[in-house]
Amino acid sequence: MRYLGIDVGKKISRNGLGTWQFGSKEWGYGDPYAEREAHAIVRRALELGVTLFDTAEIYGFGRSERILGRALGDDREAVFIATKIFPVVPVAPVVEQRAVASANRLGVRRLDLYQVHQPNPVVRDGTTMRGMLALQRVGLVGEVGVSNYSLDRWQAAEAALGSRVLSNQVRYSLVSRSPERDVLPFADAHGRVVIAYSPLAQGLLSGRYNRISRPGNRVRATNPLFLPDNLERADDLIMVLREVADAHAATPAQIALAWVLHRRPAVVAIPGASSVEQLETNVAAAEIELTEDEYQALQGASDRFHPVAGPTALPRLVRAQFGR
Ligand SMILES: NC(=O)c1ccc[n+]([C@@H]2O[C@H](COP(=O)([O-])OP(=O)(O)OC[C@H]3O[C@@H](n4cnc5c(N)ncnc54)[C@H](OP(=O)(O)O)[C@@H]3O)[C@@H](O)[C@H]2O)c1
Repeated sequence: MRYLGIDVGKKISRNGLGTWQFGSKEWGYGDPYAEREAHAIVRRALELGVTLFDTAEIYGFGRSERILGRALGDDREAVFIATKIFPVVPVAPVVEQRAVASANRLGVRRLDLYQVHQPNPVVRDGTTMRGMLALQRVGLVGEVGVSNYSLDRWQAAEAALGSRVLSNQVRYSLVSRSPERDVLPFADAHGRVVIAYSPLAQGLLSGRYNRISRPGNRVRATNPLFLPDNLERADDLIMVLREVADAHAATPAQIALAWVLHRRPAVVAIPGASSVEQLETNVAAAEIELTEDEYQALQGASDRFHPVAGPTALPRLVRAQFGR
């Protein structure tokens, strides 16, 4: 496993584990997954050197935090746990109270990274960050982070906190590259961290799905990337991923993860996993070194991918959902 070069008192693995899947109905993995597989995934991740675990109070309405905390057991203090507040009324007293609730569910005395899940369009960050600062002062929170923030708003959050907001968790993959505009350059230049979520585009980049065989769960039924037309448009990208994967005796998913980390020292990826086997291959992807030619071929295929998106996608999503 490789680790970030940033000093936060604990090592942060470049490939972490996302745990939205744990106990969340929308992923549809059911009780056997929540009660057994999730536990096994966490234990195997620890054995393989994963230290970054991402969760949120909203995942399974607290269930993900509980499952993660239980599975980590006595290893809780040794790893870097990141959770998030869902910012409905994120005023200082609420932020403080919600952090305590998350820490209780996780069974920890300190949240290593406490992130604002998304920018609140009405409440600015001043009052939220007052709560964060109070939490840091009493030692309940180590580092403060944000998620889905523009660069401007990330910097405004830092100004409000009066010190660094360590990380911005954003969607980043071969099919979602907007962080390259300014969020990634800022992180690179200023010793901040970009936490790449959905680095496999929720499984699209595994090459497992196509027009005929689409995933059934609610998360992906409402994600335009999984529209039949978009799955077809992704064929070229998946083909290039397969070619590069063959050269490394790897899988397309591993190459997609290797691409996220390639020459980006400030980036960590937090893929979710539906099985221990997926977790194992995802962890192994941190060791894959892409050649310049391979990297360029992937960039090219990514540039050529133009999915149906925005308002055009909506009626198609409805049609796809009801089979019409
Ligand atoms: N901050 C935010 O707003 C936000 C939003 C989304 C996610 N997140 C975080 O980011 C984490 C990851 O994002 P995500 O879950 O949306 O998407 P992801 O990591 O891109 O995709 C995860 C899914 O891909 C499939 N997969 C994983 N490893 C695979 C492998 N090696 N081979 C083939 N398929 C594989 C699995 O689904 P199947 O096996 O069912 O195909 C798995 O559930 C989440 O768990 C969560 O912690 C944060």
